[in-house]
Amino acid sequence: MVKFVSVDKVKPGVTLARDVYGVDTFTGRIVMLKANQVLTTAHITKLLGLDLQGIYVHDNKSIMSTLIATSEKKEVISNIKELYKIAGKATESIYVGNIENTNDVLEKLIDTITDLESFYLTVDDLRLYDDNTYNHALGTTILAIAIGKHLRVTREDLTDLALSALLHDIGMVQIPISITQKPARLTDEEFDIIKLHPAQGTEALKDNERVSERVLTGILSHHEHYDGNGYPNRPKGKQIPFFGRIIACADVYDALTSQRPHRGAFSAHEAIEYVMGNAERQFDSGVVKAFLKCVSPYPVGNCVKLSNGELAVVVTQNPENPLRPSIFLMDNPSKIIDLYSDKNYLNVVISEVVEEVVES
Ligand SMILES: [Fe+2]
Repeated sequence: MVKFVSVDKVKPGVTLARDVYGVDTFTGRIVMLKANQVLTTAHITKLLGLDLQGIYVHDNKSIMSTLIATSEKKEVISNIKELYKIAGKATESIYVGNIENTNDVLEKLIDTITDLESFYLTVDDLRLYDDNTYNHALGTTILAIAIGKHLRVTREDLTDLALSALLHDIGMVQIPISITQKPARLTDEEFDIIKLHPAQGTEALKDNERVSERVLTGILSHHEHYDGNGYPNRPKGKQIPFFGRIIACADVYDALTSQRPHRGAFSAHEAIEYVMGNAERQFDSGVVKAFLKCVSPYPVGNCVKLSNGELAVVVTQNPENPLRPSIFLMDNPSKIIDLYSDKNYLNVVISEVVEEVVES
């Protein structure tokens, strides 16, 4: 994927996606560095000396940093892995000590997220790329903390919200793998078995004195729908526990943007459209509003193609609607267009993120 970044954000090892031009007094515009050049410290120093707005680079996940450090994600993953292992053994219960360790790890994650002044989470921010098994628990937790922060959940309550989100699917360890990993649509009978997991998870944790009632109700209600059409108990609206309403939204967004045995991953913008379209039906609209302030389908610097064929670069996110950020056109970088309010662009949408920019 191609990104437009300011030169001071570039790290050695990044590959240029477009030629970089400079001005020669005698010959005019000259190519300073060619596309596909892997940048060294010397190149970056040279680029810093040029009066550039930014450069186009290939977004390499191992080089470009995400908001939450890999080491921190690894710690959360190893913790949830341990809890799932214990929960999978029918004879053992999750010890108080395990939950205490988990809470310590979650405290660090909450600090990281609450310390960020303004942030938008990309799908990459929710994942750890070298370990896929427990990514859903990690992603749901990160997003639930972020939504909770926007809804002004207190610092103390965020710990319970994070624990509830991390453990929301722990009841799934009791569902046969032939159902959870089935590479096709589930039958009604199989889905009835899946529907047992919120209650099974709650049951496994209910005697643990470190797991509060709010954590349990969050787990039990994470598949309830705002209009009363969810499961297992079908409460409606604000009767659904607050944590359950937050986790429901985080869970669905993370699940849709993940690869599943029976389908590919939805893009971030498709998943956001799904969540927006289901406000008041599946989700609490107050939670959806907070969710929209946390996610980023088109991060700043992404190159995108508009539905009118123009190529553009994302300049700022719109906190009300992440699908309509401000952009500049590649052909006219000095003009900023706000897709949310510019009358000439009301019918124009972002049709895709540009993976490759062809040099003209
Ligand atoms: Fe679930």
